[in-house]
Amino acid sequence: MEWRHLFVVAVGAGILGVAGGVGAAGRSLAPIPQEQAVSTHGPFEMGDCGTCHVGRAPSPGKLLKPASELCLDCHEEFAAQVAKHPRVKGNCTMCHSPHNARKKKLLL
Ligand code: HEC
Ligand code: HEC
Ligand code: HEC
Repeated sequence: MEWRHLFVVAVGAGILGVAGGVGAAGRSLAPIPQEQAVSTHGPFEMGDCGTCHVGRAPSPGKLLKPASELCLDCHEEFAAQVAKHPRVKGNCTMCHSPHNARKKKLLL
């Protein structure tokens, strides 16, 4: 696992300022075509965009609440330091897609 690389990515995204809808290194957080995905998020796979968004597919728009608050609704253990997980500073979506990703564990 390339922790050093991840750290650089995380810090870089922090310096550049992570705008809404943009994840690590400025990559969009929009869903990618499913045939390119190595990992897919359960709630997204179910097709229920309304779990996190105000609207519906394909452009469900605004979030119900800030991304990291959404994440912690279902992954509350990650509010604290978790074994084998990098120490979390900032948004979950700096490192993880909320939908699907070309790497395992929804990593961007
Ligand atoms: C687990 C929560 C979650 C679910 C479920 C979810 N999304 Fe998202 N979605 C997000 C987050 C977080 C963002 C980033 C938005 C932001 O930070 O402003 C986002 C952003 C997006 C964007 C905009 C990306 C961009 O570049 O601005 C699109 C399009 C999108 N989602 C489509 C969908 C569709 C279609 C579904 C249902 C099939 C869905 N989402 C389900 C959390 C979710
Ligand atoms: C509605 C509940 C819900 C919300 C909200 C939610 N998740 Fe999840 N998440 C799940 C479920 C269910 C799984 C699958 C659990 C499993 O099978 O281990 C999962 C799995 C994951 C995984 C592991 C994926 C893998 O391939 O192993 C990551 C990473 C993750 N979620 C990140 C996030 C992030 C980041 C957010 C916020 C944008 C978020 N989750 C919001 C329910 C949720
Ligand atoms: C600095 C980058 C980074 C941030 C920020 C981050 N994660 Fe992760 N996360 C990772 C990495 C790397 C892994 C894969 C660890 C591994 O391979 O076991 C991971 C794994 C996970 C998993 C899967 C755990 C498993 O055992 O399968 C979940 C769920 C998860 N993260 C949730 C979150 C949530 C929720 C947040 C926000 C509170 C968050 N992550 C923030 C890097 C990050």
